[in-house]
Amino acid sequence: MSWVPATVRTVEFQEVVRRRRMVRRFRPDPVPEASVERLLRNATRGPSAGFSQGQAFLVLRGPAELDAFWAVASGAVDDGVRQAPLVIVPMSSKRIYLDRYARPDKGWTDRDEARWPVPFWHIDTGMATLLILQTAVDEGLGALYFGIVPDAVEPFRRAFGVPADHEPIGAVAVGYDAETQRRDLSARRRPLSEVVHYGRW
Ligand SMILES: Cc1cc2nc3c(=O)[nH]c(=O)nc-3n(C[C@H](O)[C@H](O)[C@H](O)COP(=O)(O)O)c2cc1C
Repeated sequence: MSWVPATVRTVEFQEVVRRRRMVRRFRPDPVPEASVERLLRNATRGPSAGFSQGQAFLVLRGPAELDAFWAVASGAVDDGVRQAPLVIVPMSSKRIYLDRYARPDKGWTDRDEARWPVPFWHIDTGMATLLILQTAVDEGLGALYFGIVPDAVEPFRRAFGVPADHEPIGAVAVGYDAETQRRDLSARRRPLSEVVHYGRW
């Protein structure tokens, strides 16, 4: 057996966090199947309340699927985003969480939504989405998470046969990065001193 210093992995992860940026221009080259598989597998390794796992992912590739997606969900994205060869739509199912928490070990049989301090179904889908964004960096890809505007949600459901108990939280465009310039956000990043409160606000 051979050993590597544990710090190597830490540095790699820090590099993924540091390099992750929203990419808004893509080369049309397809994303290799192994990368698609890893994006999705990692997405399902995130935490979920009560291990409810109320997430689903619609994977769209090829002109027929992508044209149908952009026809309903073009919303707030630049034209360069539409070159992306892959779009993944992460979805939340509140129903799966309510079912899970109605089971004997949780006991919320009234299914009262007032019990939930925040919508954990969306929290967990957001965590899964960050795993997709970070895995994209680790695979040498770029990605953009963007919102699907409310008016587009029903047309999106109809176009792709998405059941009513699954709600898209947005979409992730993935592909090889074709940006030539990057926004420098460093001056706008809020400092820790502004956002962190030690011990008391
Ligand atoms: C909830 C959420 C919604 C967003 N919606 C959009 C969007 O509709 N269109 C877009 O181009 N970027 C969108 N973004 C990307 C943000 O603009 C971006 O994350 C932010 O400017 C910081 O840049 P960075 O992610 O490259 O560090 C969204 C990000 C989040 C987290």
